[in-house]
Amino acid sequence: MLQKLQDYTAGDAYPFHMPGHKRQLENADFPFSIDITEIDGFDNLHHPEGCIKEIEEKAAKLYRAERAFLLVNGATGGILSAVKAMTHRGDKVIVARNCHTSVHHAVGLLGLVPEYYLPDPPKGERTYRCFGGVNPGKLDRLLKEHPDAKLFVMTSPTYEGICSDIRSIAAVCHQHGVLLLVDEAHGAHFPFHDSFPESAVSCGADCAVVSLHKTMPALTQTALLMIKDSIPEQNMQTELAVFQTSSPSYVLMSSIEYALDYAHLHPDAFEAYLGRIRKLEEKLAKLKKLSLLFHDKGEALQNVFAYDCGKLVIAANQADISGITSANILRKKYNLEIEMAASDYIIAMTSVCDTDEGFDRLANALLEIDSECVFVQKKNDTPFFAALPERHFLPCECETVSAKAVPLTEAAGRTAMEDIFAYPPGSPLVVRGEVLTKDILRLITEMTAKGVNVISSQNTYPNGVLVADL
Ligand SMILES: Cc1ncc(COP(=O)(O)O)c(C=O)c1O
Repeated sequence: MLQKLQDYTAGDAYPFHMPGHKRQLENADFPFSIDITEIDGFDNLHHPEGCIKEIEEKAAKLYRAERAFLLVNGATGGILSAVKAMTHRGDKVIVARNCHTSVHHAVGLLGLVPEYYLPDPPKGERTYRCFGGVNPGKLDRLLKEHPDAKLFVMTSPTYEGICSDIRSIAAVCHQHGVLLLVDEAHGAHFPFHDSFPESAVSCGADCAVVSLHKTMPALTQTALLMIKDSIPEQNMQTELAVFQTSSPSYVLMSSIEYALDYAHLHPDAFEAYLGRIRKLEEKLAKLKKLSLLFHDKGEALQNVFAYDCGKLVIAANQADISGITSANILRKKYNLEIEMAASDYIIAMTSVCDTDEGFDRLANALLEIDSECVFVQKKNDTPFFAALPERHFLPCECETVSAKAVPLTEAAGRTAMEDIFAYPPGSPLVVRGEVLTKDILRLITEMTAKGVNVISSQNTYPNGVLVADL
């Protein structure tokens, strides 16, 4: 599509149509010169028959889906559309609690009744302080308790790179007559090298959404939605037109094609990327107080079926610094900006476009920080999300409940009227309609004190929290 855009815009056509810059602004920082709207010959995202359809067919083949759809409003737009296409108002849905806010927004917006699957943390010699994958047996038991459930929504890989056994999970869901939607936002690169876990639709998920912009050479906001033949194609197309813009950017869409072609035609680039990861793993094996989690294939971990080695989770669990401090040091001293800092660990995201120099800089910086910090045996006693709070209202009922802001110190036992979550990763500590327990308030306060970015959906927190005014 890029060639088509360049040929078209190099010609003499004058645009009496959107966008308003009319391709007259020559500025190397912005792609004005190839930014068009739906012109004859350029297809329509919501009724694809031409060059957009071709990209979608290419994507479907690569991800082994029945049908793929281009997304220009991020994975978020795809998730909202998918939940809508896979449910009816009032349906019961099982939602993995660590799902991204977009899933929780969909549940509220679409008037669904959520029951939560709480993933257990990864467990080896010690218990890790993040969510692990979905256990098919535990899911089976939950689905037996909820025979009226219509859909299960889960995240794999997690923000930390932990993948679930999608093949077994799909089998469990289908035995119960439940559809499976996998938020695979962080796994767009999976089909392009055997060292990555298998992608979700190829393992039997009915639908999966991948964020191309997260791990592939594609522009921000680009993503793909994939379905199997269990989902009527037209239903999905219809919902995508509800949740996606009617003015999709051709620059974004051509970058989707670019990313797919790049990955498909350059297996050598992925080979080199894996080589870079293996070299980095060897170097980081020398860390003494910091540690690279989940990359040690010898470490048997419960609740981790597979792992995306493109993710680098570096824990500060035996160092006198926190995850937040290590991120600050990496930024200030080494000019390295990482994806996310939690109180105990940081996440560095890598991709096929990283360079040897970038990997060397990160490894050297981490080794130097490691040598300069002091060994401490930290107690694993900071609270982690352990139990689901009681629910007073469904998310969709909260709109009609009167609410007021109260200080956090007065919120225990009251019903939250907004979602509170750490961003990233955007999975809720409390969902509106649930009771603010002492444990959850302590978790929120401690995370904030450690520098984690905790926010609330109505922006009340940290000045207070919105609760039901009953
Ligand atoms: C697990 C997960 N799902 C969905 C999303 C939303 O993706 P997007 O930013 O492409 O809309 C994110 C964003 O960070 C995410 O981490």
